[in-house]
Amino acid sequence: MNQTGTEFIRRTYYEQLTPSDQSQGLPSPALESPYVGAGPVIHLPKPDHLKPPSVLLENTIAGRRSIRRFSPAPLTLEEMTWLLWCTQGVQQVLPLATIRTVPSAGARHPLDTYVLLNHVKGLSNGLYRYIALEHAVAPIRLDAKIGLQIQEACLGQDMVSRAALGFFWVADVYRSAWRYSERAWRYVFLDAGHVCQNLYLGAAPLECGVCAIAAFDDEKLNSVLEIDGENRFAVYAAVVGKLPAR
Ligand SMILES: Cc1cc2nc3c(=O)[nH]c(=O)nc-3n(C[C@H](O)[C@H](O)[C@H](O)COP(=O)(O)O)c2cc1C
Repeated sequence: MNQTGTEFIRRTYYEQLTPSDQSQGLPSPALESPYVGAGPVIHLPKPDHLKPPSVLLENTIAGRRSIRRFSPAPLTLEEMTWLLWCTQGVQQVLPLATIRTVPSAGARHPLDTYVLLNHVKGLSNGLYRYIALEHAVAPIRLDAKIGLQIQEACLGQDMVSRAALGFFWVADVYRSAWRYSERAWRYVFLDAGHVCQNLYLGAAPLECGVCAIAAFDDEKLNSVLEIDGENRFAVYAAVVGKLPAR
């Protein structure tokens, strides 16, 4: 949606429902939460350099299933980048919004992506942040225990440490609430659904399987992701790995 479109919808519908900080003239929060790790930032291949094989959308939709068993094969950096791009890739930066590969209420995009790397060629295992505005990843924690701690937070689901990659979507709710007030509590979850669906679709040409995860212990997952659980909290997750040999 272009800025004119989002402004139109804001003025026409939402401000009649509830006054927001935006309507009262408060400044917008940053379009992405700041990265607070120790670095270094790893810039990813540009989206137009990613060439996943072509697949028919009709086959992808008809064949989509949740996959919980994977081959031990690693993903490449390009494959990981493709999946990050499909789920949160920034195509345009506007003064009060970002236009991305997924829709978001008012293009506010209140989600930040954390990725657990268990098996990506050329990168150390650990927890990273995808910095969407820079199209880069940066480490949060690279110690060997992080995969099992996240698995434990996901109620012991062992696919978390067996999959090549895990995605953890964290809502920074004020990015949406600044414009939509309490309706943001609905929108962050709707936005997350779009993101995970694009992960399922984007994984198909890579011959990867995906399984969504929402069965997790909120406190444990927020704690291991090093977020406060109030202003920023995990809303949804998924794992990705190569399909097992048939
Ligand atoms: C919101 C949501 C949460 C889910 N959480 C989990 C989960 O924690 N663990 C899991 O194994 N599957 C999870 N799933 C996957 C569902 O079990 C799966 O989509 C369902 O069984 C239908 O299978 P299909 O995706 O292959 O069509 C979740 C799916 C959704 C949409």
